[in-house]
Amino acid sequence: MTDRTAELTIGDQQLELPIIEPTIGNDGLGISSLRNITGDVTFDPGFANTAGTRSSITYINGAEGILRHRGYSIEDLALNAEFLEVAYLLLFGELPNQQQLAEWNSGIAGHALVKEEMKRFFDAFPNNAHPMAIMASATNAISTFYEEYHDPSDEEAVIESAIRLIAKMPTIAAWSYKKSMGMPYNYPRSELDYVENFLHMMFHLPTEETKVDPVIARALNVLFILHADHEQNCSTAMVRGVGSSRANLFTSVAAGISALWGPLHGGANQQVIEMLKTIVEDPEEDAQSMIARAKDPDDPFKLMGFGHRVYKNHDPRAIVLRTYADDVLATVGVSDPLLEVAKELEQAALQDDYFIERKLFPNVDFYSGIIFRALGFPSRMFTVLFSIGRVPGWIAQWKEMTEDPETRIMRPRQIYVGKVERDFVRLADR
Ligand code: CMC
Repeated sequence: MTDRTAELTIGDQQLELPIIEPTIGNDGLGISSLRNITGDVTFDPGFANTAGTRSSITYINGAEGILRHRGYSIEDLALNAEFLEVAYLLLFGELPNQQQLAEWNSGIAGHALVKEEMKRFFDAFPNNAHPMAIMASATNAISTFYEEYHDPSDEEAVIESAIRLIAKMPTIAAWSYKKSMGMPYNYPRSELDYVENFLHMMFHLPTEETKVDPVIARALNVLFILHADHEQNCSTAMVRGVGSSRANLFTSVAAGISALWGPLHGGANQQVIEMLKTIVEDPEEDAQSMIARAKDPDDPFKLMGFGHRVYKNHDPRAIVLRTYADDVLATVGVSDPLLEVAKELEQAALQDDYFIERKLFPNVDFYSGIIFRALGFPSRMFTVLFSIGRVPGWIAQWKEMTEDPETRIMRPRQIYVGKVERDFVRLADR
């Protein structure tokens, strides 16, 4: 906080609002005394203009298409780091040195197994259960095995929970897939690293020797890094919101997984592929017909993978993925007609006045699904992959929230527009 203030006039009342200064980015108008002094509240659907916290984890400049974690650009991290290295950076604020990284990696590897009882939990779901529903449920369920780590003010317990969550996510994700395929579950193997282990648990049969393609492992590493955090997005806000009631980390992250599933958020990556498939398979549809539907005010359809609350310019993650999609497809030897359709659709939208005026650009979900597909993942797993990547971000944001002395339970106000007061009418008289 500085001495700078802003003035707010409501009728004949004048209020001096403190200006909260960032290190970079938007100033914040401090309105916490507004209701006490004036009796009024602010009205901001979707909190599009409201900062709920100070944060030092992730910086986004939506106008210039910049994304940085702890000051490091997403491009640098995606090209040069490993996913668990970025997870460490998000959680602890600094890049690990070699020894710290080795300890961090082996700590996580040591907790990749889930309790054997959890198998019965997976078995109970129908075979066609969406893996995101299983992910959210299983994440909540594993909290039952770790009650000793539930206290958010116990620093050691929080780190123990964080390690277990990051470690077990790939196992839960792979088992939710195996369950849907009616195939036996694979256990993690100690000689494989984090991403390799996930690929092994996803794709190998217990009858076969484990062989992980390093190209696929590196591509998945990059994808996880690109999804690792994105400041106060919908799912992160939910994780913080649940955690603000002092609920434990496991259950807070389960809430984030539920929020991520929605098609306007992480669920968009699955929807993009469905949309591109429709264009390829349905002779009545093409890029222009999709764009026409997206522009029609009477049609709820949106061009999936386009638009963003914060980016009013290219999403830097989408730029990395766009070039990466060509490389990955060429390296794994897959040619996908959906990639050509995606490029065509992108060009058509970027030249259309509707999209230009509203500053709608491709977001991270536009190209990620094409790469996930090329790596062999079915589309129902795409949002699960997003959630494995996002777990370190959710944890870092949750941890920052619990350590912040300014944190209060999340509890927005409302503008009541219902009936004012009515006399009760007994059932017999209605
Ligand atoms: N297709 C057509 N019109 C759009 C789209 C779209 N994809 N996105 C926004 N618009 C229009 C919107 O209808 C509105 O038009 P008007 O001013 O005429 O009412 C205008 O652009 C502003 O959009 P908004 O809905 O106010 O923007 P928002 O910040 O509330 O929503 C969004 C952001 C991401 C939910 C939205 O752009 C969207 O639904 N996109 C499609 C779903 C998607 O790709 N989601 C992934 C988001 S990025 C990664 C992640 O979070 O998972």
